[in-house]
Amino acid sequence: MGDRFSLAGRKALVTGGARGIGASIAEALANSGADVVIGDIAEDLGRETAGKLSQGGAKVGFVKLDVTDEAQWENVVASVISQIGGYDILVNNAGAEVTALISDIDPVTVRRMFDINNVGMLLGIKHAFRAMRPGGPAGNGGAIVNISSVSANIVFPGIAAYSGTKSAVDRITRVAAAEAGKLGYGIRVNCVYPGLIATEMGVQLAQDVVRLGLFPDVDTALGTVVALTPLGRLAEVEEVADAVTFLASNGSKFVTGVGLPVDGGMGS
Ligand SMILES: NC(=O)c1ccc[n+]([C@@H]2O[C@H](COP(=O)([O-])OP(=O)(O)OC[C@H]3O[C@@H](n4cnc5c(N)ncnc54)[C@H](O)[C@@H]3O)[C@@H](O)[C@H]2O)c1
Repeated sequence: MGDRFSLAGRKALVTGGARGIGASIAEALANSGADVVIGDIAEDLGRETAGKLSQGGAKVGFVKLDVTDEAQWENVVASVISQIGGYDILVNNAGAEVTALISDIDPVTVRRMFDINNVGMLLGIKHAFRAMRPGGPAGNGGAIVNISSVSANIVFPGIAAYSGTKSAVDRITRVAAAEAGKLGYGIRVNCVYPGLIATEMGVQLAQDVVRLGLFPDVDTALGTVVALTPLGRLAEVEEVADAVTFLASNGSKFVTGVGLPVDGGMGS
């Protein structure tokens, strides 16, 4: 693909990279040449994943991070810069999903989801901007990729609050890109909208919509999603990781403030 798509010399932090989509993103960035740090609340799994990904020679480390805690963000950004010698890619992937009918919304659970999916993401962008912009401790600009969801572009019953958090990711991305561009930070901000993937989160969602009485069984729920998808299947983690890698690379250096669907056409 040529050098423009290489991430050699780049320094990346992937939140929520202990498993699922985030682990695949960490692997893809490392395979493209970046030094990667996974930041996750799941400590044992995060260390195990970083260890596995490093076996092939790639450089992948782990740091404990709860994205909702600003003090942790400050420490993590400082330790990424000192551990791997810079910071110019942030993938805001950590997320939570709560499936509930609106008539049954539990404010405590839903607030925690908004805190992770939106406040956590905003804090990630805040501290990336401060570190990566000219004069910051990393100071060379960079690329931020946020993980939204096809649920920002479609209507599916049972996920009103989750869809709200993912629509917010879309808007936060676009305003962040505008601020970074206008203020000359040298930082691009984009997002991707993955379709449904059978990660732990995706499988749980399919089981939950059945539990809520919206579908008779998991096969029917998944079949409904597939029937709404022109390419006729669910997504794979690697497909999201490839799109993120492109948006992090110089192959997309005039692309900012956009959302790239990776959903087989479902949200079109
Ligand atoms: N699976 C899907 O179908 C799907 C589709 C579209 C978008 N997404 C989005 O992709 C992202 C990853 O999803 P996934 O399917 O891999 O989920 P997952 O549940 O398998 O993994 C999520 C990871 O985030 C971590 N995490 C949760 N809360 C955290 C916090 N406060 N701080 C740091 N880390 C935290 C978890 O420990 C876990 O490692 C999420 O933002 C999700 O909303 C998933």
